[in-house]
Amino acid sequence: MKRRKLNKKRVFIAVVILLVILLEIINPIKIYNKHVLKDLNYSNESIKEILNKHFIKEVKNIPYSKTLDLVFKSKDFKKENFDVYKELPYRELKNYTKDVNELVTKGYKTEEIKNIIKSATDDSIEDFLKRDYVKDINEYLAIDFSILGNYDRYIEYQKGNALDKEQIVLYVNLGLDKEQYEDPVKVSKFSYTMLVNKYNYLDEDFIPDDLVTVPNDYAVDTKEKVNQTALEAFQKMSDACKNEIGSKVLVRSAYRDYKSQEETYETYLNAYGKKYAENYVAHPGFSEHQTGLAIDIKAESSNTFKGTPESKWLIENAYKYGFILRYESDTEEITKVKSEAWHYRYVGLDIANYIHENDMTFDEYYIRFLNK
Ligand code: DAL
Ligand code: ZN
Repeated sequence: MKRRKLNKKRVFIAVVILLVILLEIINPIKIYNKHVLKDLNYSNESIKEILNKHFIKEVKNIPYSKTLDLVFKSKDFKKENFDVYKELPYRELKNYTKDVNELVTKGYKTEEIKNIIKSATDDSIEDFLKRDYVKDINEYLAIDFSILGNYDRYIEYQKGNALDKEQIVLYVNLGLDKEQYEDPVKVSKFSYTMLVNKYNYLDEDFIPDDLVTVPNDYAVDTKEKVNQTALEAFQKMSDACKNEIGSKVLVRSAYRDYKSQEETYETYLNAYGKKYAENYVAHPGFSEHQTGLAIDIKAESSNTFKGTPESKWLIENAYKYGFILRYESDTEEITKVKSEAWHYRYVGLDIANYIHENDMTFDEYYIRFLNK
């Protein structure tokens, strides 16, 4: 009798254990939560961690965060920093979680960490973490397009300038705190939005995509080359100009390779002297003529360009074809090139439109929106 009772008890315990195990496997709440996280877009690996670490309640009630997806998977994840992680923008950083933990430890507030992270690269954050807490970092880093690696240059440039913080960030990111041609950034890839100026250069052997010869009826001479998309836009623009004012615009000089830019510089140097050449002709490698996207334009009705009906028409209409006037008299401080009424640059419709509406240089547009 006693033995049978004991057996029954054992069976009962075994069944309970089995049930507990079964319930853990087919736990309806867990299955439901997994679905919720999956629907939010979390990866399987981080779903597992969110559940294991018991953060389901916090995570399921806020929108998907790529940052959380990343930090939950990290071995450096710290429970006590969850409230910071959840506010942070995503960024491709090798040691994202570890870096954030260190910033918290150094005493940075969430708002500061947010701005440090959004402006950081692997190298710049590694350097920055070697320093003690830096006060008032948000004065510069809260500006959208600030760059953590330029922080000390912002401080230095501010000393000699009455510019506001946003201008300081803009000017330093442009490179204007340095001499032109000193320590420039190399541009390697062709794109319709590439920036080439006295601070961003092309190698001697850089050749742009899709170079084509400009047809005779759109050029001053027969050997002009330009990017194909820019040419198509130019032809439409020239036709529209002809339709509206009775005369068209022609390509005087478009693509110039490194060598011919060198020759252009030499020609100006010999004819007009160093100051003039420096003002109007970029050094080889630093001319956007080498991108195949810049065109010096000739008016059909005249040999000088400024003030012609064609020039006036272009000022009003070029943006509709994706072109912008590149060097104006009130932008010399930024472009470091004297006003050139004839030099247009193809940047595509959207950017040309924005630049026309907001009256800014392409250099500034690039620094604000494209400098990733
Ligand atoms: N004239 C412009 C600045 C150039 O040489 O590229
Ligand atoms: Zn030009």
